Amino acid sequence: MAAVSLPLAALLPLLCGCVCVCACVRARACVRVQSCHATKPNLLNVHLVPHTHDDVGWLKTVDQYYYGDRNDIQHAGVQYILDSVVDQLLKNPDRRFIYVETAFFYRWWKRQSADVRRTVRRLVDEGRLEFVNGGWCMSDEATTHYSAVIDQMTMGLRFLNDTFGPCGRPRVAWHIDPFGHAREHASMFAQMGYDGFFFGRLDYQDRSRRRIAREQELLWRASDSLTPPMADLFTGILPNGYNPPEGFCWDQSCDDPPIRDDPDLEDYNVDDVVKRFLAIANTQAKVYKTNHIIMTMGSDFQYENANLWYKNLDKLIRYVNGRQANGSRVHALYSTPSCYLQELHRANLTWALKTDDFFPYADDAHDLWTGYFTSRPALKRYERISNGNLQTCNQLEILIKWPPYVVLPEKAMAVAQHHDAVSGTEKQHVADDYARRLAGGWLRCQVLVSNSLAALSGSTAERIYCDKLNVSVCPLTESSSKFSVNVYNPLARPVSWPVRLPVNGTSYKVSDAEGENKYSGDVVPLSAATRAVRRNRGFAVNELVFQARAPPLGFTTYSVSLLRDGPPAASTRRRTPTAGKPSRPSIYDCFLRVTFDPDTGLLSGLSNLETKQTIKLTQNFYWYNASDGNNSKSDQPSGAYIFRPNSSTPFVISRTAKTETVQEVRQWFSPWVSQVVRLHGDSRALELEWTVGPLPIDDDLGKEVITRLDSSIQTAEYFYTDSNGREILQRKKDFRPTWILRQSEPVAGNYYPINSRAFIKDEVDQLTVVTDRSQGGSSIQNGSLEIMLHRRLLYDDVRGVAEPLNETSALFPEGLVVRGRLLLSLDRPPTAADAHRPLAQQAVLGRWSPCLQFSGLQAALPPAVHLLTLTQWDEDSVLLRLEHQFQSRESKENSRPVTVNLQKLFSTLEILGASELNLSANQWKDEMKRFHWTPQTGM
Ligand SMILES: *[C@@H]1O[C@H](CO)[C@@H](O)[C@H](O)[C@H]1NC(C)=O
Ligand SMILES: *[C@@H]1O[C@H](CO)[C@@H](O)[C@H](O)[C@H]1NC(C)=O
Ligand SMILES: *[C@@H]1O[C@H](CO)[C@@H](O)[C@H](O)[C@H]1NC(C)=O
Ligand SMILES: *[C@@H]1O[C@H](CO)[C@@H](O)[C@H](O)[C@H]1NC(C)=O
Ligand SMILES: *[C@@H]1O[C@H](CO)[C@@H](O)[C@H](O)[C@H]1NC(C)=O
Ligand SMILES: *[C@@H]1O[C@H](CO)[C@@H](O)[C@H](O)[C@H]1NC(C)=O
Ligand SMILES: [Zn+2]
Repeated sequence: MAAVSLPLAALLPLLCGCVCVCACVRARACVRVQSCHATKPNLLNVHLVPHTHDDVGWLKTVDQYYYGDRNDIQHAGVQYILDSVVDQLLKNPDRRFIYVETAFFYRWWKRQSADVRRTVRRLVDEGRLEFVNGGWCMSDEATTHYSAVIDQMTMGLRFLNDTFGPCGRPRVAWHIDPFGHAREHASMFAQMGYDGFFFGRLDYQDRSRRRIAREQELLWRASDSLTPPMADLFTGILPNGYNPPEGFCWDQSCDDPPIRDDPDLEDYNVDDVVKRFLAIANTQAKVYKTNHIIMTMGSDFQYENANLWYKNLDKLIRYVNGRQANGSRVHALYSTPSCYLQELHRANLTWALKTDDFFPYADDAHDLWTGYFTSRPALKRYERISNGNLQTCNQLEILIKWPPYVVLPEKAMAVAQHHDAVSGTEKQHVADDYARRLAGGWLRCQVLVSNSLAALSGSTAERIYCDKLNVSVCPLTESSSKFSVNVYNPLARPVSWPVRLPVNGTSYKVSDAEGENKYSGDVVPLSAATRAVRRNRGFAVNELVFQARAPPLGFTTYSVSLLRDGPPAASTRRRTPTAGKPSRPSIYDCFLRVTFDPDTGLLSGLSNLETKQTIKLTQNFYWYNASDGNNSKSDQPSGAYIFRPNSSTPFVISRTAKTETVQEVRQWFSPWVSQVVRLHGDSRALELEWTVGPLPIDDDLGKEVITRLDSSIQTAEYFYTDSNGREILQRKKDFRPTWILRQSEPVAGNYYPINSRAFIKDEVDQLTVVTDRSQGGSSIQNGSLEIMLHRRLLYDDVRGVAEPLNETSALFPEGLVVRGRLLLSLDRPPTAADAHRPLAQQAVLGRWSPCLQFSGLQAALPPAVHLLTLTQWDEDSVLLRLEHQFQSRESKENSRPVTVNLQKLFSTLEILGASELNLSANQWKDEMKRFHWTPQTGM
């Protein structure tokens, strides 16, 4: 196998080597005879698309929705929808239906007889039942990480390919409900081979401008690194969100009049229906470019009794087209998004070009959907950790070759990507269900990890997983005087990371895999904040801190033994008692110096000692007072989806803080906000570990807590945020690149999703913040960057969820406490990416805890290459995704093309062959042919 060269700064895995031993059998292409109904070139063609929007969990859990359980919460049962639609499709070969969410389709398919399966296969082959989108779910676009999105798409599309072959491959991406649209999603869809993309929601101002300009259909150029048309995606904005036009909803859940077409009976209404339909069609045609328009005939969980819809649609088509004999210029037809797209493509027009994204989404002047960027911060973190665990598990399964086909947490992860899951916009009991699924997946994963470690080390010693280290709880390390720690590094380069373990002793010896006593390990007293947040789950009085280094895709083991017990004397060695006034104005290591204001105790400056940069940097915590909806401008309250502060000026939480120890400063802002500021010696980033909650509500005020960094950097209103953890987009305050914004929410209207990092910069300084989960953030003042950490709200924001976002848990009945970390780095702008890209990958995949040293790679990959996926595909092949992780022009060194020799990559795998696939691994790369679209600018 020859070396594979990645194109210049190809951002997404252009290379997906399916490493096969056998010659890969190519399936036939999907050949359909006339699956799209004929259209009429000189008439206005109205494509009626019967569809259902089935949330993979929202007000009910995914399984409750599948079965139609708990109809008292919401009437919805997906199994009945699929039963009913299949019956109705058989009744009239003209009828069409699209299905979107593979999580549901898979549940249904499992239970069908051979007979029904045969019938459904025929419907798919004939294009009467068409899959669109086809991922496990319709992912959220603001709060998901690209790695998890690719995985969930791959899973759904693989099921469709395995089950239906090439005719089951969706040609169209369909995100009709997500609340704003990420550029990285469009880029991924393009690289997954989709011909086009349709969605329903965009800013109301953008929508009205596009209607007038007839730019609701456009060409999205979704990457500035990939050479066009690699990341070009034709994008269509649907006319009514995803609902039918007014007066034409014939589901059992709707009240519109049926078509009463027997002239002998009362209330004959055909003329009226046709007239209304023609009027709507002609009006709609005015805001689109071609003589084809699309109408989505369906909505949330519709078609449970599909007869109602189809009976009326059959009639509508017959009567509308009957008017053509009398000169009507409108032709209605059953259609699907891909049939509609095919007509737009045939029109051979040029389309407006878009290069930014569709965030934030507002459906009215004071209704900014920017709260969900942060809603349910604990679930958001848990989802992110679970992704790291899943990748690790996938890798180990291969590297250790132990036992294949363990059920891994990938279904739980896939479901969690849904636009009401990790987004935090579901009811509380549904959020609990997502977390329970992730936990179940992790338990299965642990079995595999234990087996792998045992196989590698030859030791069957009891292993426990310290998954509560975020609150410094780990029963084993707290109670043992001798234990060993395994650290696994899922990244393709060596990583060094501080390990912090709760312990009860005061002095420990830490030795590495070679048995050398290289590390003494620092022992620091456990903070009051950590004691408060761990509650009664542990008893350690100290934390043992040492720097662990792990080889690429590999383990290392550290042995720890107690040297001295007794009272926490260690702390006296380090602590500088402070009684209110901090005595130490700065902490530093070889890379960074952090200064604190001697009066307020707040962080006041940051220096990079290598580059000799210093900035003024103040950090504090604030809360926005959530609008309760009682407001003269609008009655919109802040809620799970919407962020609407009552005032643009947040309340400062406290100005007093206190500090301790050498490379660690502990700050106490209020009973519900504290922070530890840490340097790690080995890493070039400053860690801010925040603990926020329980947010008090006894004053009847909803609170949205932010931390704000105010720096001396001259930002001129610009700031930068990532898109799904990948490319970086430039943001400007009160500005949208594609239309003239009337800003009506000075704070919420400037919030953007941050999935892994954000930065501000000027000519000389760049301050980058790497987050540990998705959060919302903005830069409201020159030089400042704020990140929303936690929210607790007392009102529902009237977008359907019908619960205030008021999180509590068994452990925190008085309100959820959340802890997380931000990593800050200060660099020169031209080289900043070299530091923050790897840092962000590390924060996403983590390292986790807890033989000998082992690396699955022969050597580390070059810095520009990220090993995104390594997972068992079938019995004798694995799926490998390598990613060029630098954007073009981002780094002098690392944005260049890279060559990787696959043959020399792995230490335990011999590669017998490789075949390249598209990004979602459901099409061979050399068979991937997409529609070509021409942008207006002629580029
Ligand atoms: C067509 O027009 C004729 C004459 O106006 C009318 O009698 C007939 O009912 C119309 N047909 C339809 C389908 O509207
Ligand atoms: C599309 O339009 C271009 C110029 O506008 C023309 O050169 C080309 O032949 C057309 N293609 C088709 C298939 O009609
Ligand atoms: C932990 O250390 C404290 C203080 O030295 C001591 O009181 C306590 O008994 C120890 N607990 C255990 C379980 O060792
Ligand atoms: C919020 O949760 C607390 C604790 O469970 C409860 O006492 C309070 O009534 C809740 N408030 C609202 C508005 O739901
Ligand atoms: C600690 O992490 C767990 C998941 O591993 C999460 O459920 C919990 O909310 C986190 N605790 C805090 C205080 O953030
Ligand atoms: C699609 O599935 C077929 C079997 O139905 C298989 O032969 C083919 O390799 C699969 N295609 C891809 C790209 O995995
Ligand atoms: Zn939805």
